[in-house]
Amino acid sequence: MATTATLIPGDGIGPGITAATLRVLEAAGAPIEWDEHVAGMAAVELGQDPLPQETLDSIEGTRLALKGPLTTPIGSGFRSINVALRKHFDLYANVRPAKTILPKARYPDLDLVIVRENTEGLYAGIEHFIGMDKDPKAVAESVMLITRYGSDRIVRFAFEYALQHDRERVTLVHKANILKCTQGLFLEVGRHVAEEYEGRIRFEEKIVDNTAMQLVLDPYQFDVIVTENMFGDILSDLVAGLIGGLGFAPGANIGTDAAIFEAVHGSAPDIAGQGIANPSSLVLAACLMLDHLDEGGLAGRIRTALEETLREGRVLTPDLGGEAGTEDFVSAVIDHLARDVAAV
Ligand code: NAI
Repeated sequence: MATTATLIPGDGIGPGITAATLRVLEAAGAPIEWDEHVAGMAAVELGQDPLPQETLDSIEGTRLALKGPLTTPIGSGFRSINVALRKHFDLYANVRPAKTILPKARYPDLDLVIVRENTEGLYAGIEHFIGMDKDPKAVAESVMLITRYGSDRIVRFAFEYALQHDRERVTLVHKANILKCTQGLFLEVGRHVAEEYEGRIRFEEKIVDNTAMQLVLDPYQFDVIVTENMFGDILSDLVAGLIGGLGFAPGANIGTDAAIFEAVHGSAPDIAGQGIANPSSLVLAACLMLDHLDEGGLAGRIRTALEETLREGRVLTPDLGGEAGTEDFVSAVIDHLARDVAAV
């Protein structure tokens, strides 16, 4: 029986890579029916709220969504709809697997996962200006919110993820040497949770700046990284760079009652409308969704077809050094899917 999922094509390159991803899912026979809705700029352009109630209602019903990138105005304008969605559905775990699938990648066979806390930290959005003399913006203040509850559930999530995915190690990344209260609490709770998994999953702790350097020098020493919101945001882009760029990084936002899957990259306004975006990240996000639906076999077939297309190197988008458009790239992936089925 097909599962219904909410579909948000998104802004910029979003609609193009979403259409491409749906073609791949359809060709693979994925049992998903879509309930399509808008959010972000696409909603504003239709005269709606950037996060329309209908979109929220749909996810409320399906508890499952695939989302293209959404544009967030910089400095002013509406707040990030991605952050709002994570908060609304309490999607507290952001899971970003980074696996090398590009041939001739700088770090071959890299396979690590960042589990980022998704609702707290500086992204809780508790910030304000303090006026002085005649300057209403003389000081800006932002609160890094870390709770025992939030730290406990994200570290626990990382350990459970490690167990379920046959991973060996969880590294907790922090800055408790400087931020003794907030980061100190995160570390304290993390150490406590780790004790429960002793003998099953190895636990390590690392300061964030050192982690950034170690990731570049020797990323193979990491397996599952768990960290707070902003460090996770920055490190997951760094790690995406290690495997060849944001074009290959999918993300899953998981809560107790809902899950939203997305490409890690943004709406790429510089190439929007040109039909040349690389759809791999959203295709891989859809694979994470299939894993979530216990359709790991289908997800595996799609990942293999994508890897074969990249390895063959005949039809590649410009970010990969090729000249093909999104549609041609996806057609090549679908050809590989069909060939793989014929070979079985
Ligand atoms: P971006 O990820 O959109 O683009 C960075 C660079 O990577 C650009 O040169 C772009 O052309 C390239 N790029 C990104 N995705 C690509 C793809 N699939 N194929 C080929 N090239 C690709 O980041 P940027 O420019 O900082 O942000 C643009 C907008 O996206 C902003 O409004 C930002 O807030 C939003 N954004 C949304 C995210 C989401 O919805 N999850 C995540 C990150 C940014």
